[in-house]
Formats: sequence, C-alpha cells, structure tokens
Amino acid sequence: MLKTSIHGAWSSRAMFVLATVGAAVGLGNIWRFPYLTGEYGGSAFILVYLICLFFIGMPIMMAEIMLGRRGRQSPANTMYTLAIEAGRSSHWKYLGWMGMIAGLLILSYYSVIAGEVMAYIFRAASGAFTHQTSSGIRSIYSDFVSSPENLLAWHTIFIVVTMIVVARGVHEGLEKTLRIVTPLFFILLLILVGYGMQSKGFSEAVTFLFRPDFQKLIYVVNDSGVRELTAKPILVAMGHSFFTLSLGMGAIMAYGAYLGREVSISHATLAVVVMDTLVALLAGLAIFPIVFSNQLDPASGPGLIFQTLPIAFGGMAGGVFFGSLFFILLFLAAWSSAIALVEPTVAWMVESRRVTRVKATVWIGIIVWLLGIASIFSATGTTLRDILLIFMHGLDLDTIGLRQKFFSQTFFEVVDFATTNIMLPLGGMLMAIFVGWVMHRESVRAEINVRHGDLCTLWMSILKYVSPLAVLIIFLSAVGLLGNV
Ligand code: PFF
Repeated sequence: MLKTSIHGAWSSRAMFVLATVGAAVGLGNIWRFPYLTGEYGGSAFILVYLICLFFIGMPIMMAEIMLGRRGRQSPANTMYTLAIEAGRSSHWKYLGWMGMIAGLLILSYYSVIAGEVMAYIFRAASGAFTHQTSSGIRSIYSDFVSSPENLLAWHTIFIVVTMIVVARGVHEGLEKTLRIVTPLFFILLLILVGYGMQSKGFSEAVTFLFRPDFQKLIYVVNDSGVRELTAKPILVAMGHSFFTLSLGMGAIMAYGAYLGREVSISHATLAVVVMDTLVALLAGLAIFPIVFSNQLDPASGPGLIFQTLPIAFGGMAGGVFFGSLFFILLFLAAWSSAIALVEPTVAWMVESRRVTRVKATVWIGIIVWLLGIASIFSATGTTLRDILLIFMHGLDLDTIGLRQKFFSQTFFEVVDFATTNIMLPLGGMLMAIFVGWVMHRESVRAEINVRHGDLCTLWMSILKYVSPLAVLIIFLSAVGLLGNV
C-alpha cells in the first residue's frame, strides 16, 4: 500500500475537516433542507433526518474516506488497487469511474447555477432589487435565464475560478483557498442569522422550522382533501442525508486519499456531519425570518433564491448589504463543492495519463465547460427532442419508437435525475458493499483504527446490512419503482 499520495496531503486533521465540510456544504443545505424541514413536520422531520444521518450518511462517509486513505489515489485507481488487494475482480475500478463521471456531470450544471449566483451578487450589490414588485423580480430572472450569452459568460467565469484553485494543487490551491473560504462562509452565515434573529418574522420562522408535527411526517392530504398515510417524508430524509454529504461519487474518497494515517476517521467524520447539519439549520434561521417578515411564501430551490428572497432584499432596510452577503455565501458554498467535484478526475489524469496537474485541469475544465453548454440550453427551454430534431431533421421521432416523456425533458433534467437519483445512490451502495463484504476484515480494521472494537463491529454490520438496503430503498423510490408512497 502507498504510504502517501503523489498529489500531497492535508497539513492537519482540521484542514481535512474544513475541506470536507466545504465539499459537503452546498446549495442543498441552503435551499433544500430548511424547506423540507418546514414542509414535513419541523423537529419531527429533523429527528428522522438525524437518525438517517447516523445510520446511512455517517457509515458510508466513513467507508468512503477509509477507501480513499487506504488506496491513496484517484477513485478509479484506488478501487482497482483495493480490489486487487482483496483478491477480487479489477472491475471494481468502474465504481470509481462511475463516481468520477457523475462528478463531472454534476459540475456541468452546478456551474451554470453557480454562475447565476455570481451574477446575482452584482445585481444585489447594485441595488437592482430595491423596491421591485414580485413581477419585477420575476422578469429580472427570466431576462437573465433566457439569454444564453449571459449564462455562458458566468458559467465560464465560474469554471475558470474553480480550475485555478485545482490547478495549483492540494497544498497551494485547495488548502490555501479552503482555509479561508470555509471559515468565511460560517462568518457570513452567522451575520445573516443575526439579522434574522432581530427581524419580526423570526418567531414565525422558528415555529415553521422546529415545531414538531408528527402528522406531517406520516400523512399527506391528497387532491380530494382526504388524509392518507405516506412514506415520502421519511424517504426524502433518507435521500437528503446521503446527498448533503456529497457521498457516492468519489469526491470524499479523493479527499480521504490525502488524509494522514494518524487521524481517526470516525472523529473526523463526526465533525463533518455535525457541521453540515449545523449549516443547514442555521441557513433556515437566516432565510425564513426574512421570508416571513415580508409575508412571502416559503419555497425551495432556485425559486427561493432567485425569485422569493430578492423581493425581500429589495424591500428591507440594509437589503443591498444583506442581499449581497447572501449571494456571496451561496457562491462560497458552490465553489468549495465544485473544487471537490473536479479533484478526482484531475488526480486520475495525473496518475494514469502522466500529464502535469495544470494540463489535466485545463482538459477537465474544457470538458465540463462544453457539457455545461447543454445545461445552458436547458435553461432556455431546449429539450432533448429539440436537440435530436436538429440532428435527425425530417424524422418522425415517434415512429422510431422514442419515448415521448423522456425526450420532452431538458438535458439538465436528465443529467440531474441520472446523477442524484441513480449514480450517487448506486455508488454509495456499492461502496458499502465493497467495505462490508469484499475487503478483508483485517485491512478494514487496520485502516479505520476505531479504538473500540465493538463500535467497529457495529459499523461493519451497518455497512453490510443496513446501508445497502437503505440506499436501495432510496434508489427504488427515486426512480418510481416503489409506487406512490
Ligand atoms: N452536498 C451538496 C449539497 O448539499 O448541496 C450537493 C452535492 C455536491 C452533491 C457535490 C454531490 C456532489 F458531488
């Protein structure tokens, strides 16, 4: 086994935790989790979520870090080396490959959204939202996303700032940047929570986020107004506990490859999981007071950040300042995740294609940039059907048996679905299976250095039985095979 990675090493455990928190904390913590909590029963949902984090997220994160540290290479080469060590098929390397490809695909659209976020920093700072009505804010957004040139320019800028960091290497690039970016992110978040605490919507926000409502956790009201039992909130909690930690795609494995032998993986993972959860809760306390103080409807996703919040920033005292801070916060979250998405493939190119890190980064940057263009056309409403029609001019698509529904989606929708709902859960499940069933027990124990033998046994049992099953359920429900839950 390699003692160190050829790419470098984190200078301390704290640095690894900062970098991994940067990779895990992303748009999902800010625009998704707070809304899910409010929607599905407040602290009742948080309780289920914490159980999922503990039984699904944490064990798989420990497994992924452990694999990286033992293999000390990019995910594809790490999986290859470890499979050979265990005397198993070298095909396990494709697990690393799947993660690396998912990472690039995710980055290609993450970068387009992050580009929009960057543009909004300048919008907010220039006072473009001040005293705007909701339809004014909506038209600012639709003007922006209907201009491919604009989207392309910001996508390009985001790719360039991400690649500059990665090209400079683990020590000079990732470490030096993340050492500043992650703490800065926390400071901005706390300033925004401070603002939220003194605004008049704070208590409404606290009620929305935390009041336990077990009814919402298990019942849904259907279209005809009748209450029905549902498993959806629990499945959502399971899926989010996995997505929020950026598991299953090799980013965490790549970061694990640079982690020192002496560091306890369980302690480091616990620190990351706690901080990721803290960010998600604080984000709710920063955002929803602003939403409620301005009598706006809570929402999630792009609608919340590009269409709801700007109305509030436009109407409140200090809105230019706090609005700009908010978009800077989002940018930092997306930037540190993007860096983690590129690292695995850049590391692979340096190891296997024997190119310099700078060259590898430029190549990967170009690939992601090109893929992003397809997402840009998605933002302007171009579907797969439109794209195919360009290439297959004159053919009737239905007569050649192409399924209507699939082709009426945009590239962005297809890639988003394939990565978050299929590739990531599949990756996480196979990693749990690899550690639980394929690797030699002694190798796992030697690497994980959990001092309590019992805890290690518990972790292994979870990885063997609970995690694969749980992820399988997430996967089946996400692809619609569990019926209408
Ligand atoms: N963990 C990120 C979030 O919560 O927003 C999302 C994410 C980023 C998932 C990067 C996967 C990934 F590779």
